[in-house]
Amino acid sequence: MHRGIEPELAGIAAALHDMGMVMTKRDERHAQAAEKYVYDFLERYNSEPGTKLRPVTKVEVERIIKAIVKHSEKGVYSNDPLVEVLKDVDS
Ligand SMILES: [Fe+2]
Repeated sequence: MHRGIEPELAGIAAALHDMGMVMTKRDERHAQAAEKYVYDFLERYNSEPGTKLRPVTKVEVERIIKAIVKHSEKGVYSNDPLVEVLKDVDS
């Protein structure tokens, strides 16, 4: 909230940020590897019937994926607060 990020969006991104490591069982390049898994996960979430929560918008999906893909780039400052939040989460 301090960074002006919707807490729900940050929560979803944080929960999924190491999905690449979980799915590939590898640390190396796990941030980049997460892209397809996170995309598929959010697509499934959005198409799941009966959810009481709103869908994740296309713009939000893109923001989440961008932040996850870049969360391991600790030495590179991003002007995207969601990217920086995930770096903090990962640390
Ligand atoms: Fe990570």
